[in-house]
Amino acid sequence: YMNYRVPRTRKEIFETLIKGLQRLEYRGYDSAGVAIDGNNNEVKERHIQLVKKRGNVKALDEELYKQDSMDLKVEFETHFGIAHTRWATHGVPNAVNSHPQRSDKGNEFVVIHNGIITNYKDLRKFLESKGYEFESETDTETIAKLIKYVFDNRETEDITFSTLVERVIQQLEGAFALVFKSIHYPGEAVATRRGSPLLIGVRSKYKLSTEQIPILYRTRNIENVKNICKTRMKRLDSSTCLHAVGDKAVEFFFASDASAIIEHTNRVIFLEDDDIAAVADGKLSIHRVKRSASDDPSRAIQTLQMELQQIMKGNFSAFMQKEIFEQPESVFNTMRGRVNFETNTVLLGGLKDHLKEIRRCRRLIVIGCGTSYHAAVATRQVLEELTELPVMVELASDFLDRNTPVFRDDVCFFISQSGETADTLLALRYCKDRRALTVGVTNTVGSSISRETDCGVHINAGPEIGVASTKAYTSQFISLVMFGLMMSEDRISLQNRRREIIHGLRSLPELIKEVLSLDEKIHDLALELYTQRSLLVMGRGYNYATCLEGALKIKEITYMHSEGILAGELKHGPLALIDKQMPVIMVIMKDPCFAKCQNALQQVTARQGRPIILCSKDDTESSKFAYKTIELPHTVDCLQGILSVIPLQLLSFHLAVLRGYDVDFPRNLAKSVTVE
Ligand code: F6R
Repeated sequence: YMNYRVPRTRKEIFETLIKGLQRLEYRGYDSAGVAIDGNNNEVKERHIQLVKKRGNVKALDEELYKQDSMDLKVEFETHFGIAHTRWATHGVPNAVNSHPQRSDKGNEFVVIHNGIITNYKDLRKFLESKGYEFESETDTETIAKLIKYVFDNRETEDITFSTLVERVIQQLEGAFALVFKSIHYPGEAVATRRGSPLLIGVRSKYKLSTEQIPILYRTRNIENVKNICKTRMKRLDSSTCLHAVGDKAVEFFFASDASAIIEHTNRVIFLEDDDIAAVADGKLSIHRVKRSASDDPSRAIQTLQMELQQIMKGNFSAFMQKEIFEQPESVFNTMRGRVNFETNTVLLGGLKDHLKEIRRCRRLIVIGCGTSYHAAVATRQVLEELTELPVMVELASDFLDRNTPVFRDDVCFFISQSGETADTLLALRYCKDRRALTVGVTNTVGSSISRETDCGVHINAGPEIGVASTKAYTSQFISLVMFGLMMSEDRISLQNRRREIIHGLRSLPELIKEVLSLDEKIHDLALELYTQRSLLVMGRGYNYATCLEGALKIKEITYMHSEGILAGELKHGPLALIDKQMPVIMVIMKDPCFAKCQNALQQVTARQGRPIILCSKDDTESSKFAYKTIELPHTVDCLQGILSVIPLQLLSFHLAVLRGYDVDFPRNLAKSVTVE
């Protein structure tokens, strides 16, 4: 966070940094740290003070106030502070391994990093051979040491901060979003990214100099570090910088997610891979060495629609709970302006120009991880039915491991809430290299997946903060169904089916409310189950994905063992698990698999199993054999999975609370997995 000609006390600076971290805590939370200017108020004589702490952001906040040496009332007219919350990839969670990482004991350069540096061992070996001493086990520390190395070996005294960073990133492999601070460049900030998201928020009550920041390019390509000094950057002048007109007060916020800064500003610039953004004298400039993938010679200031209250918990005890209960509105927002219930038509604006090409394709490949993958499994059958195309669903990691053949007449969908999941992003690049048409289905405007795909659908579910994905799943589900409907618009034989599904979509928000009213009953069920070690969830057909997704929710936040079982596979192995003790949830809906599910039910009860059955309201048959039933309203078979997953989301939530776990922050997990 940089305040330029906006007087702020150290306390206010802390509060901005800490609040920002808390909003990002869902991404990782095993340690946290800040770097701010030391006590001296003279810009030129400031030193950098680091405070780092193992644990969550609250622990860091408490630690900050314990630091006697820091006068909280000291006011800074211009100041740049950085802060980070970490989810360990290299090195155990402790204060030394947390960020900011530093170049040396004098804190000459400090850096915060999101991502992973894959060649850090080689870099570290090189730097150690040059006498640099490492204190942490992190990959990030090599970046801090490397920038000092470049600085110590500079050819000219007047080398800029951003040139140093440019040289550093030329040596880095892997994924990163980085923000640097240095005592050698007081009041200046440099940030850059490759593969990990980074945006810059701008706030000023004065007019800004521009809405489009032109990119500065080097006048010729750089081959290696030695050549850099011989190349020239296009001239940096006021027209290539963003600032408040007349050099008036302006604040800049650097963050990996808009939720960290939305309470200060909704005016943001999304950086692209290899952009180097620098602020000096209150002016922001962006330069790069190579042309960008988008080939856009400028970066626009965008206005985000996100509201602060969307990322607040309100009256709920956890974000996850709030997000489960938001589903009547979030599914409505996914359909808003797209489904016309009068004319039975669907229009996805982001796909319409590519529809012809998609209709001509050889097959659809739908790729994602975790819950997003389950959304693909859930809609596979209806997509096959409506598009009359072969549909493959793929886990991104496995898809890459197999070097799956992809052709230029394939259409590949990438499903991702965050739009930043590394596996999915790599699968996207893999498909792009093979010239397939790529389609993003994401919940995050400006995310890497939404920018790198040829076209896409924004699911409009609103920010999802809880690590366990809930409302994103139902909105992804609906987005894929809408795609199928759009594809089948001119198929005469499918018109009745389309009408039935569109009719079903219309009543979903009301039916979801009805399912949510079962919350108390599900809480009572959780009271019976929360001491168990295992929980099986079984179903088939349209509801197989419900079982996979329900089991994932249960294992990730309750730490119970849970498995989603395809009922058709029961007698091929899982039946051996069934006895009086083993809790089994069966999803049995009035759909084409009903009779087959009854068989599975018989097999379970014949082994003294005591099934808890999620069934349709009018199903008197299943309930006869049930230990307990949860009755759900009926909808079209291919949409039933939207209703049947909600009781399992609620159940996992209550089980986790009863077991005493922090629902929003499950151990070992982070919201956005930007490492492979
Ligand atoms: C589970 C969960 C994860 C994510 C997965 C993909 O509740 O949240 O399984 O679904 O990490 O994340 P996105 O959708 O952001 O690509």
